[in-house]
Amino acid sequence: MKIGMLTGGGDCPGLNAVIRAVVRKGSFHYEDDFLGFMEGWRGLLEDKTMELDLESVGGILPRGGTILRTSRTNPAKHEGGLQRCVDNLKKHGCEALIAIGGDDTLSVAQKLFAIGVKVIGVPKTIDNDLSGTDFTFGFDTAVNIATEAIDRVHTTAEAHNRVIVVEVMGRSAGWIATYSGIAGGADVILIPEVPFDIDQVAELIKQRHARGRYFSIVVAAEGAQFCDGNEKHGGGSPDGRDEFGHVRLGGIGSSLASEIEKRTGFETRSVVLGHIQRGGSPTAFDRVLATRYGLGAIDMVHRGEFGQMAALRGNKIVSVPLAEAIATNRKVDQEILDAATGILDKLDYKVANVSS
Ligand code: F6P
Repeated sequence: MKIGMLTGGGDCPGLNAVIRAVVRKGSFHYEDDFLGFMEGWRGLLEDKTMELDLESVGGILPRGGTILRTSRTNPAKHEGGLQRCVDNLKKHGCEALIAIGGDDTLSVAQKLFAIGVKVIGVPKTIDNDLSGTDFTFGFDTAVNIATEAIDRVHTTAEAHNRVIVVEVMGRSAGWIATYSGIAGGADVILIPEVPFDIDQVAELIKQRHARGRYFSIVVAAEGAQFCDGNEKHGGGSPDGRDEFGHVRLGGIGSSLASEIEKRTGFETRSVVLGHIQRGGSPTAFDRVLATRYGLGAIDMVHRGEFGQMAALRGNKIVSVPLAEAIATNRKVDQEILDAATGILDKLDYKVANVSS
C-alpha cells in the first residue's frame, strides 16, 4: 500500500521516532511504500513531497525536529483547500494518510476523513493537552528540560536572595508547569486552569520569607491568567494569530515578576524557557512512546481503523476516534493538582487553596 505521512503544528521531540517506526514496520512487515508531505498540511495543499524509505529514516531516532518539517497551515482556511489535499493524495496514489499532530492538525485530519480520506492520527504536543490519550510524546522531554532549568534557577535565586519566575509553555493547560514545578520543587505553580490572584501569590511568598526562607521559585505556564482577566498581563498579541486562530503567547513571566516585586519588595527576575523546551533530542521515554505510536498507527492502517488516532491508555496503545481526541483540551487533573499543593507548608496551602 502507498501511504502518505505528514507532521503538523509546533514541532516536538519524538516526531522523527514516529516517522521511523512507521516506515520500518510498514516496509518490513507490510511491504508498504511511503511519501512524505513537507511542512505539515502545506505540503499536501501545495504538493511538496519527499521520498520516505528505509534509507531516509536511518539515524533519525535521536534527532529532534522533524525530517518532514512542519507548519501551522490550515487547508480549511484556503479556497478549495480540503479538496486540493484529496486531489494531491490521489495524484500520488496514496491510499491512506498518517497525520502526526496536536488538536489543530488532527481537526483537519477529521475534516478530511469526513470527505472520504483514509486517515489515521498520531497524538503529538509537548503541552500534553490532547484528549483521548494519557500522554503525548514530547511532553516528557519538555518536562525534563524545564525541571533542569528550575534546578539551575534555584541555585542562583538562593545565592542572590531573589524570587525567580520561570515561564514555561502551555497554552491552555498547565501540564508542563505542574509536572516540572513538582519535580523542581517550585514554591508557586500557576496554570491556565486556575486563574490566580496576584495579591495571594505575593502573600504566599511573603509568608514563606517570613519563615526564614530568602528566595522563592515561581513556575508559570505561558497561558496562566490573572483572575482580574486583564489580557495585558497574560501577554499575547491579537495580530500574531495563526491560521487556527491562536494568538502568540508570552510575557506572563515578566508581568508576574514586576507585580511580585512591587507587592513584596523582594528583588524578582524572570526567565522564559520558550522553544528550548521543544528543541533537541527526545528522552528515552519519548523515543519509546513515539516508536510505539508509530507502530500502532501503521497497524491501524492495515486493520482499516480510519478516522481513529493511536492513543496511550494505561500502558497499552489503543485506537480512539479522532473526534474524541479533538473534542476538548485535556486539563491537568485534580489528582496532579492535589500533588502540587499537598506538599506545601500548612500556611501556604491555605493561601494556595483560597486562590484556586
Ligand atoms: O505546540 C504547542 C506550543 O508549544 C504552545 O505551548 C505554544 O504556545 C506554541 O506551541 C508556540 O508555538 P510557536 O512555535 O508557533 O511559537
